[in-house]
Amino acid sequence: MKDVYILAVESSCDETSMAIVKNGREVISLVINTQMDTHALYGGVVPEIASRMHTEVITLVLDETLKKANMKMEDISAIAVTYKPGLTGSLIVGIECAKTLALIYNKPLIGVNHLIGHIYANNLEDKMEFPLLALIVSGGHTELVIMNNDYEFKKLGETLDDAIGEAYDKVARVLGLKYPGGPNVEKLALNGNYSYNLPKPVMDNTYNFSYSGLKSAIINLVHNAKQRNEEIRKEDLAKSFQIVAIDELVRKVEKAFKETNIKRLVVAGGVSANKYLKEEMQKLCHKYQAKLLIPRLLYCTDNAAMIGAAAYPLYLKKEFSDFKLNASSEGSLL
Ligand code: KG4
Ligand code: ZN
Repeated sequence: MKDVYILAVESSCDETSMAIVKNGREVISLVINTQMDTHALYGGVVPEIASRMHTEVITLVLDETLKKANMKMEDISAIAVTYKPGLTGSLIVGIECAKTLALIYNKPLIGVNHLIGHIYANNLEDKMEFPLLALIVSGGHTELVIMNNDYEFKKLGETLDDAIGEAYDKVARVLGLKYPGGPNVEKLALNGNYSYNLPKPVMDNTYNFSYSGLKSAIINLVHNAKQRNEEIRKEDLAKSFQIVAIDELVRKVEKAFKETNIKRLVVAGGVSANKYLKEEMQKLCHKYQAKLLIPRLLYCTDNAAMIGAAAYPLYLKKEFSDFKLNASSEGSLL
């Protein structure tokens, strides 16, 4: 079969990214233009600024992606683009760019779900084999699913309120750390001890998660301490939060290992960049003799290479999108 080169576009939040991915697994080029420093000034992503900045850089990102790969648009097999979930204004910039390229160069267009992209980032490391458990931990989602094959998802559970990444970001904010919060909470926790007694995000016997109680408990604790002029041991609080938040993920994956007997785990989404999470999942997989896949740091957070990887099975099945493809802020896997 002829090699397939997918040009992928990702602009769902505050990264403008494009990549060329060969046969769904080999990254030929990847460019990520992050707006992080701008949004950090406001303590979080400002949607209007995000979409304007995507517009400003997207053609430059395209030029650089092609240049790095030493390829022309004529060499590309298909154009893939994230169409959900994400910030609508940001998604539209990428979608319009992808549609325009598909139209001008007469290439198939492939709409990709961002969360599925995070899962397929693992294919850039090692070929995913099925059945597997996929744990999605991002800024907007916390889900545990079974995959029996490419694009075959069976949801076990999800968060009933806040996503784990969102909890990291809110805890960071109340501790006075800069956006994005996750990596900064992780850094602070390195010098802390587990000494705060926090409520566990336990949803008992289900596979669902709940992080808003844990988040609120920390916000209240910090506010109360301020009112009483008491000092917060920030490092300890960060460490205590991280242990409670991540141990609940471990508990749910362990339950799934026991109940499904599946021996493979892939972790996906921004929070998979967390070292403590990685270490705990490594221990758990060792205990159950399961194979663990976590993408390298570059592919954990938002990037277009994962979109190119996720588009490949759709390309093979000729599941193309038409020009009505539109942005949606909604979207789980199913
Ligand atoms: O997947 P992602 O880049 O964007 C979404 O699709 O949401 O995930 C972003 C989330 C943010 O909440 C960020 O704080 C969190 O991932 N994150 C981390 C770490 N790096 C990013 N959380 C904990 N530890 C990290 N090292
Ligand atoms: Zn993401």
